[in-house]
Amino acid sequence: MVDTKSSRLSGFYRLTLAERAETLAKWAALSDEERAALTGGGLDAAQADNMVENAVGVFALPLGVATNFRVNDRDYLIPMAIEEPSVIAALSNAARLFRAGGGFTADSDEPVMIGQIQVLDLEDPYTAGQAVLAHRDQLLAEADSISASIVRYGGGARDIEVRVIVGPPSMLIVHLLYDCRDAMGANTVNTAVEHLGPHVEAITGGRVNLRILSNLADQRKARAHGVIPAGELTTETLQGHDVVHAIVEAGMFAALDPYRAATHNKGIMNGIDAVVIATGNDWRAIEAGAHAYAARNGVYTSLTHWWSDEEGNLHGRIELPMAVGIVGGATRVHPAARAALKLLGVQTARELAEVIAAVGLAQNLAAMRALATEGIQRGHMSLHARQLAIAAGASGELIRRVVQTMIAENNIRLERAVELVQQLQRS
Ligand code: MEV
Repeated sequence: MVDTKSSRLSGFYRLTLAERAETLAKWAALSDEERAALTGGGLDAAQADNMVENAVGVFALPLGVATNFRVNDRDYLIPMAIEEPSVIAALSNAARLFRAGGGFTADSDEPVMIGQIQVLDLEDPYTAGQAVLAHRDQLLAEADSISASIVRYGGGARDIEVRVIVGPPSMLIVHLLYDCRDAMGANTVNTAVEHLGPHVEAITGGRVNLRILSNLADQRKARAHGVIPAGELTTETLQGHDVVHAIVEAGMFAALDPYRAATHNKGIMNGIDAVVIATGNDWRAIEAGAHAYAARNGVYTSLTHWWSDEEGNLHGRIELPMAVGIVGGATRVHPAARAALKLLGVQTARELAEVIAAVGLAQNLAAMRALATEGIQRGHMSLHARQLAIAAGASGELIRRVVQTMIAENNIRLERAVELVQQLQRS
């Protein structure tokens, strides 16, 4: 079926909360229950009690939706759980710019995770490694024998790799490559490597210590690419080509300097984490994988690459590990995560990974565009002013008046917000 829905919901930000929820419910055919899960946080304390130990309640974050996304010729609305102002607006804006260039193209690897087995006390780890490889088929069959359901869905053990780490202590590291299909797969992979431990001991004569998944999921990467026509980047004071040039220079800064790369990648993760959290996935795993991948060549560097083509248009590309699932864990247990996945409408974990990669690229563009032109503070300040106005006790129309005055005075401080609230309330 061809999907003809457009995510270009211009003016979405001007709607009331209820109107936005109504729009989303129609867009994604959400049931009343799903809609309530999205707008109300979804999780109650009793459910939390079934998820973690010593539960006392739930901790809420704002849930917003980024518009304008088009990935592989399909439109998406992006659910984002995040407390930082400006991220969602900036992302929607960036997605609109990429949309003008035809949207994102994205692809991903098969959903293969790595499980590690650490083997010690070996006379010769290289010979032990060869012995493990000679038993490859037996080990794969053993791994498959304990997870019939994932094998039925087309996943399962794919390969065995061995690495020797020269110590002391020297050790053999056995990697089990395991296709997790639509699950993130941590539980399945950990079960599989724990099951293989005694077999590896028997084969090598060594002692198995750790058996655990690796979060450097570099067999399971997602990539996205997009183009922005230079003209789309024109500002009040700058030509589009100049902005393209400044963004490419900003990209080089991150590529060459770890101090900058950390902040650049943090901006990418602003978008990625927000979707990962909203969909009930493990954002610590995604963070760990992203940063380890950024340092894979021994120097920490940028996760994105930016360049201009012969016509001067801006191109961006991102590649990073993306171990996310649409089944298992909180993705199904958390009612808001379930509703967020329905809103996204992704059919597979790979599709989710590809959309998230596009989000990372767009979020990076948003930050670099602001940084390479007017700086980020102007955009941040109006939302910051809004938060101060609310903290100072303003509500309704008063918030807007306090914000407007503080911005006009270029005096955005809590003390000023308190003064204005008192003053405007009296008038
Ligand atoms: C702030 O949360 C993120 C940025 O610092 C990212 C960047 O510098 O690229 C704006």
